[in-house]
Amino acid sequence: MSAWTSLPTSVETEDALDALLTTPPPDLVEMMARIDGDIIVLGIGGKMGLTLGVLARRAIEAAGVRKSVIGVSRFSDPMCRDTLEAQGVQTLPCDLLDRAAVDDLPRVKNVIYMVGRKFGTKGAEPLTWASNVSVPDNVGQHFRESRLVVFSTGCVYPLVPAVSGGCTEGVAPDPVGEYAQSCLGRERVFEHWSNTFATPLCLVRLNYAIDLRYGVLYDIGKRVFEGRPIDLGVSHFNAIWQGDANHWALRCLEHCASPANVLNVTGPETASVRFVAEAFAELFSAGVDFVGEGTDGRMYLSNAARAIAQFGYPSVPLITMIRWQAGWIQRGGRSLDKPTHFAVVDGEY
Ligand SMILES: NC(=O)c1ccc[n+]([C@@H]2O[C@H](COP(=O)([O-])OP(=O)(O)OC[C@H]3O[C@@H](n4cnc5c(N)ncnc54)[C@H](OP(=O)(O)O)[C@@H]3O)[C@@H](O)[C@H]2O)c1
Repeated sequence: MSAWTSLPTSVETEDALDALLTTPPPDLVEMMARIDGDIIVLGIGGKMGLTLGVLARRAIEAAGVRKSVIGVSRFSDPMCRDTLEAQGVQTLPCDLLDRAAVDDLPRVKNVIYMVGRKFGTKGAEPLTWASNVSVPDNVGQHFRESRLVVFSTGCVYPLVPAVSGGCTEGVAPDPVGEYAQSCLGRERVFEHWSNTFATPLCLVRLNYAIDLRYGVLYDIGKRVFEGRPIDLGVSHFNAIWQGDANHWALRCLEHCASPANVLNVTGPETASVRFVAEAFAELFSAGVDFVGEGTDGRMYLSNAARAIAQFGYPSVPLITMIRWQAGWIQRGGRSLDKPTHFAVVDGEY
């Protein structure tokens, strides 16, 4: 039985986790049989890219078609490159800020764009703007004949109260702080070249992927496990299993348009921090203390109704992710040590 019809009760090893994140669901396999051309993943060296590249590779193999997956990054972590190559993903080291180097990249039909810079922005704002805006300028021009799925973020929206149910794609962007402004810049530059060259484009506004080695659930669960209080100043969040986020992003290759299609990608819940923390406490047989209650907070929340109508409900329910995450933390499972800072609402990262 496939991982997509029968979820395990726990995820005990990184191999098991990676297998879950990269098992292709049937509709993705069918899409690989349908779409023309190879796939290039730009910025594959980050937290999501490795599993997205391998997911695409496995879907192609399951479809029984000939199609390359090429991963491009600087490969700051050389292990990432080795792992991708071992799994059949070709790799091309490239600093995408270098226009001449971008010009040498193969003009592949399908582009998944994952480059981004967030943490460390404060004090190094110019590098964030260059990474989030100049790189799109290089890529948008070079890949004008391709179809482009571009990872963006729910941080381009204004902060909203939990009762809103999250921003839909129709809400006008109103980014807070330079990181979020640069992310809107990324979208606008891609849109400009899409409009200029009629390049099909899909902007994927993602809120918080969950992969057990990092993520909002890791951040909350770890605090509860260590007996540290949970701040309810930011009382709600959105999250989605990383396998589902990557699956939907790849499926978006068939939902690119010019002018751009915009899609919120996250889970169906406006998840309550209190609910999640109490669920962790129960699983740890521990207590949990809260601070910052009763503040009428505004926060980053997106409404994924459109994506869910398009692709169906995510395959891993929130409570299952919480159970997996609790077990992972209790067993001392590896952490990427990359906190999400999901409770930051002043735009400073
Ligand atoms: N993970 C989430 O929950 C989440 C939530 C919202 C939005 N997003 C967005 O989704 C995308 C993927 O997420 P992620 O978590 O995998 O991001 P990430 O960990 O920041 O990875 C992005 C990768 O892009 C590569 N990169 C950066 N500058 C580059 C350059 N000049 N040339 C070539 N490669 C470059 C880097 O790898 P190298 O160092 O190897 O080059 C980096 O690790 C990002 O755009 C992020 O903003 C993610």
